[in-house]
Amino acid sequence: MNSQPPRRVDGQVERQQTDKGYVPVYTTAVIEQPWSEYSATDHDVWRQLYERQRALLQGRASQAFLLAQDQMGMTPDAIPRFSELNAVLQQATGWTLVGVEGLLPELTFFEHLANRRFPVTWWIRTPGQLDYLAEPDLFHDLFGHVPLLMNPVFADYMQAYGRGGVKAHGIGPEALVNLTRLYWYTVEFGLIREADGLRIYGSGIVSSKGESIYCLESDAPNRIGFDLTRIMRTRYRIDTYQKTYFVIDSFEQLMAATAPDFRPIYQQLATQDSYPAGAVLDSDQVFHRGSGEGWADGGDV
Ligand SMILES: [Fe+2]
Repeated sequence: MNSQPPRRVDGQVERQQTDKGYVPVYTTAVIEQPWSEYSATDHDVWRQLYERQRALLQGRASQAFLLAQDQMGMTPDAIPRFSELNAVLQQATGWTLVGVEGLLPELTFFEHLANRRFPVTWWIRTPGQLDYLAEPDLFHDLFGHVPLLMNPVFADYMQAYGRGGVKAHGIGPEALVNLTRLYWYTVEFGLIREADGLRIYGSGIVSSKGESIYCLESDAPNRIGFDLTRIMRTRYRIDTYQKTYFVIDSFEQLMAATAPDFRPIYQQLATQDSYPAGAVLDSDQVFHRGSGEGWADGGDV
């Protein structure tokens, strides 16, 4: 642990184009969560977002997500202490939350995941940013990402992804692009098919009021069955809701998909064009073909 007091790097900060947008680069140090420094406003932002999302997510989020969030002991009452969540999480799946200043460089992030450590941004958005924030904050990371780390299969998938990231980083930027799409369309924006219909498990969705409704109920986006190489070829949106959501049958399906060595897949994909974010292919398992209403032209990354 770093003994420095935690600092948000702010003001004249260097910015970098990443898969999450044009965002500040933060220090890579692991820090203690400065829990006693959270203001009443910080706790109130947590409470408002927590209550709003939990109400929205009944019947929309995956049962596994809602159950895991309850099991962890997260409540709207106050920003949770990482140390208390860690006691539960370590017991359940051996994962540990570590505090960070914000978005990490890719390799640092992958190395944390590969060692079953999940980096959580310690600071929370302001009351004026309840609906949208371009970079991950405590609410996105903790409310969105952490609950499913309680699920043994999903927890293994996240570690496998981290190991795959370290490997892809060594192979080259194109491999990393392919792998990042997998993260985007599963961990951040994934849907799962449950007995009663499609449900959300992606963190980018569960932490967003608008997209929690849009991804399931709007006619505009495609909802298509999970296909590893198809996803690795598909560009995505960072500035609007997604044009396409990919649907898994189970976390076991995700885990199984990461079992093969991706190197031959990367080699094959290097010779093929990418697909636009809104494409529907003849080979797709289509749950819903999007109307495309309101889609912006261009801008896929
Ligand atoms: Fe995220």
